[in-house]
Amino acid sequence: MKALSYRPAIQVTIMALTTFAAGCDRGPAHSIVPVPQQIVMGSGTFALNSDVEVHFADQADEGARSVFDIWATPFRESGTLTLGAAEGGAFRIGVDGEGAPESYRLAVTTDGIDLTAADHAGLLYGLQTLSQLMPPGAETGGTAALELPVTEIEDAPRFAYRGMHLDVARHFFPPDFIKHYIDLLARYKINRFHWHLTEDQGWRIEIDRYPRLTEIAAFREQTQIGHGLDEFNGDGIRYGGFYTKDEIRDIVAYAQARHVTIIPEIEMPGHAQAALAAYPELACTEGPFEVAMTWGVFEDIYCPYEETFEFLENVLAEVIELFPGEYIHIGGDEAPKTRWEESEYVRDLMVREGFNDVEQVQGYFIRRIERFLNANGKRLIGWDEILEGGLPPNATVMSWRGTIGGIEASRRGHDVVMTPYSHLYFDYYQSEDQDAEPFAIGGFLPLDTVYSYEPVPPQLRDRDKERIIGAQANVWTEYMKTGDHVEYMLMPRMLALSEVVWSAAEAKDYENFLERIEWHLARLDALGVNYRPLDD
Ligand code: ACM
Repeated sequence: MKALSYRPAIQVTIMALTTFAAGCDRGPAHSIVPVPQQIVMGSGTFALNSDVEVHFADQADEGARSVFDIWATPFRESGTLTLGAAEGGAFRIGVDGEGAPESYRLAVTTDGIDLTAADHAGLLYGLQTLSQLMPPGAETGGTAALELPVTEIEDAPRFAYRGMHLDVARHFFPPDFIKHYIDLLARYKINRFHWHLTEDQGWRIEIDRYPRLTEIAAFREQTQIGHGLDEFNGDGIRYGGFYTKDEIRDIVAYAQARHVTIIPEIEMPGHAQAALAAYPELACTEGPFEVAMTWGVFEDIYCPYEETFEFLENVLAEVIELFPGEYIHIGGDEAPKTRWEESEYVRDLMVREGFNDVEQVQGYFIRRIERFLNANGKRLIGWDEILEGGLPPNATVMSWRGTIGGIEASRRGHDVVMTPYSHLYFDYYQSEDQDAEPFAIGGFLPLDTVYSYEPVPPQLRDRDKERIIGAQANVWTEYMKTGDHVEYMLMPRMLALSEVVWSAAEAKDYENFLERIEWHLARLDALGVNYRPLDD
């Protein structure tokens, strides 16, 4: 199979950032990431120890107890804190429905802790912030006394959509790692997990009606070694895996409990060669097809037959049943039209529909899928190629080939998630000295470039700015075979992302951020999470 154009290995200009003088001598006054909207540090401390009990404002609020227990479990298991509940306890927790969604107010006084949140997500975030007022290894044990500084915080997110993506198709990551990943997201107030489940190189989700997707499409014969630009050099090792429906239900529940919404992605019409290996009758040409063993963009894509729509709608119906979130991601990127141009069926379809450009067939394809999703109570989100050939009326656009697609979509009244490769592709190298880094796809995306990202393009009119619902970073895993490697590419860049999507733009300060993340790197050490060390 011939690989066509591919994600460009870009070079990003490092933006000059002004440095922030305050606190330079003594280090930052606090280490909270993402930096809260408002924080006032007082004097004095409160000793949080196992004598301190937790008072729930509403005893019957099961959601509050559930969030609290999730947060408290590591402290309890490591023996650091008991955190038992009792009327009149000095650690007071409540949800009052006041303020912006996901907001919270946290006050540590010499008498105790008061945490009040707008909702259960806000409660979780308030607790995550509280953890960051402790020593970095507090939850994993070995801490004598937790002396919390007197502090008053009011906090709320800047964006509703704060996303991280993971490609589990190029390489497969087991359910335990997915949970661990979701846990890391929730710690940093990232609330969307975009789960990239299907690709040319593997189909990773069990679909009852189409067993060949997991028997055939979930496994490739071998995997290319290196970038493979000249000739195929395979490793000779059969590779694959998939998530059963029970595993997916378990992961969805795990994510829901941490207020992370999963956005499953089922790619179409391109990046579908694995599915075509299982069901070749869905292609415009005869096949046979193989689950791809190399990376790139492939010409064999779904053919817009009625049978293909029936297949995809049946698949999506099972996907919809598993995932409670509002969005289903349908891909839409990198779909070469070579096979469609050569297909008599597609030519007839174009005559019937009055299309004079094959790109209009892509629009037709995605609009039909959108109608199906909308009729089943879901919203469609897709990569910015869905702008080509006629944008589906209610679609949300994920702008990855820069920000032009996002700008265009917002001007046309569509919601947009920004994920430009220039700033948010975490598969790119973290150093210009590539030999010093684990092998990667290319590019150069250092921490300060991620940190400098501003999701709202300044040229937008105010009403179009409202359409930018947030941003997301993507982790494509062609060259990441292990969870350890994924963590290395994720951290500390995800800490920068968290500040991009949560904190006020004017509160961002890179030098100050660098000081604050020292605490977080120590915490990642304590949690056993891999990361790329900071440059000297
Ligand atoms: C993409 O990187 N092809 C969305």
